[in-house]
Amino acid sequence: MLEEIKKVGQEALEKLSEIKTASELDDFRLEYLVKKGKVQSLFAKMREVPDEEKPQVGKELNKLKNQIENGFKELSVKFSREAESTPDVDLSLPGRKRFRGSYHPVIQIIDRMVEIFKALGFDVAEGPDIEDDFHNFDALNFPPNHPARDMQDTFFLASGDDLLLRTHTSPAQIRVMRKQKPPIRCIIPGRVYRNEAISARSLAEFHQIEGLYINKKVSLAELKGTLISFSKKMYGEDSEFRFRPSFFPFTEPSAELDISCFLCGGEGCRICKHTGWLEIAGCGMVHPNVLESGGIDPEKYAGYAFGFGIERVAMLRTGVDDIRIFYENDLRALNQF
Ligand code: PHE
Repeated sequence: MLEEIKKVGQEALEKLSEIKTASELDDFRLEYLVKKGKVQSLFAKMREVPDEEKPQVGKELNKLKNQIENGFKELSVKFSREAESTPDVDLSLPGRKRFRGSYHPVIQIIDRMVEIFKALGFDVAEGPDIEDDFHNFDALNFPPNHPARDMQDTFFLASGDDLLLRTHTSPAQIRVMRKQKPPIRCIIPGRVYRNEAISARSLAEFHQIEGLYINKKVSLAELKGTLISFSKKMYGEDSEFRFRPSFFPFTEPSAELDISCFLCGGEGCRICKHTGWLEIAGCGMVHPNVLESGGIDPEKYAGYAFGFGIERVAMLRTGVDDIRIFYENDLRALNQF
């Protein structure tokens, strides 16, 4: 028996020293260390050993068992370490760049405009994208046959309830007036829709920021002052501006605010339609009929209103000369802002 133990021991140690892979080690375990393995069968033979030899044989057998188990453990620790430190990746490859999200340039412009107007004392209000004919046209003093009411210019909804996609943010003026008592000083950013041919300058869906100020005494000079101080903060102190007389049914008098063209610096190009100026806002003193539609007494109160086109402003700020670039969702373009 002692001979046999010695033989199994030598053989096992030899095998251990030759093991090179985890699967070879597993074969070794199956040969020696399971219930029916070589070590346990030696223990089973203890029954046949005469009593006086049992202590010595037992001692040798335990020694053998410990030797084999320790050798096995050492190797399995070694293989599991190796498995951890050699993952299936090539560590010499260059790393992958992580994408960082950013706000869309148009949203960035809205946020900046809101921030500046807030600093000038304006609150932020909202109106719905789906409007009715009353808020979008009637209440804003559009005569019944005004061309904007034509299907050519406005997206009417098929429901027959005279619902439409608002063509400007001005209907929100009426909603604010009907909800709040003067003094009112708010801006209303939002999306607007027009049935326009899509080009480098215009889209069928774009954004505006409406402004409304109503108080006991409001002058045109205040309107000009507010818009100029806003615009200088937005475009820089040395941009040039001009007010040009204009017409809107809901303001009287009405004007348009122009900024010198960012692209050609005033010489004339396709963006400024060769005038050297870009129109950035419509504005004027709120028409008395509009105050009345809003439930405000035009004898007691006056107001001014303005509406900026946001994409136009975004073009100015970013130098993008084709408005469509903002909505093509091409990250190569959008990631730059
Ligand atoms: N609603 C006008 C437009 O869409 C802009 C505007 C707003 C003009 C407020 C005057 C006052 O062009």
